[in-house]
Amino acid sequence: MAGTIIDGKAFAAQLREKVGTLAAAFEEKAGRKAGLAVVLVGEDPASQVYVGSKGKATIAANMASFEHRLPDSTSEGELLSLVERLNADPAVDGILVQLPLPDHIDEQAVIAAIDPDKDVDGFHVTNAGRLAVGQSGFVPCTPLGCMMLLTDRLGDLSGLDAVVIGRSNIVGKPMAQLLLDANATVTIAHSRTKDLADVVRRADIVVAAVGRAEMVRADWIKPGATVIDVGINRLAPEPGASKGRLVGDVAFGEAREVAGAITPVPGGVGPMTIAVLLRNTLVAAHRNAGIDLPEGAI
Ligand code: GUN
Repeated sequence: MAGTIIDGKAFAAQLREKVGTLAAAFEEKAGRKAGLAVVLVGEDPASQVYVGSKGKATIAANMASFEHRLPDSTSEGELLSLVERLNADPAVDGILVQLPLPDHIDEQAVIAAIDPDKDVDGFHVTNAGRLAVGQSGFVPCTPLGCMMLLTDRLGDLSGLDAVVIGRSNIVGKPMAQLLLDANATVTIAHSRTKDLADVVRRADIVVAAVGRAEMVRADWIKPGATVIDVGINRLAPEPGASKGRLVGDVAFGEAREVAGAITPVPGGVGPMTIAVLLRNTLVAAHRNAGIDLPEGAI
């Protein structure tokens, strides 16, 4: 029997709904809305779409959205002074600087300038460090979204074998930390891993975040495993089509025949990222305003 499809789109919609309700309650208590500032430098079309979606989702969740769209010619100094202003602005609870930045700007310097307590992306070294040592901070949105889907599906992850394919700072490394915190036995695999298929075949949980279209095949999957596909890759267009299909890092059709459950692309992990961003902003707002958010509320 084919594996269950994990509906990230529906899960994300529920999470956004919960955040919206809690954000309205926050406004009542704090006398202001929770606020998210999103900064985009340059004209990258994909980034423009993401930033537009984030702004709309923020407003739909009863929060204030502050959008800063800057020209490609913006200097690193100008961007750093905007970040400083946002750090100091009490209406701004969360700051997100859309990546990638133009080549003449040092991304690490910009991330380092964000107040860690407004770093709702969880990219600042202080937040990476907090995650590594088990202190509360902000966790990057995509891996936290994957974790929510996994615990919703599997409940307790204790003792399960998890293989994360990919070791980026944004997905692979924080994903591994989260799985470890949940008492899974974690392997991080990557492009130099020997016998990758054999390593993946041991996993009860596979998280694929390598950015290679349909690399993970059905015969890499242990029967019944839970497969989370973080990849978003566009294939070359079919003859006559203007755009190629979007596919994940997992060959979905064949892998579904073996997996117990699997996320589709699109409609799996992707929609979780913005929902978790809103969740992180709500948490930031409560911390900044000194208002308790009941443990486990979201
Ligand atoms: N670019 C693509 N995804 C992201 C994200 O989650 N955060 C930021 N800041 N930039 C991105």
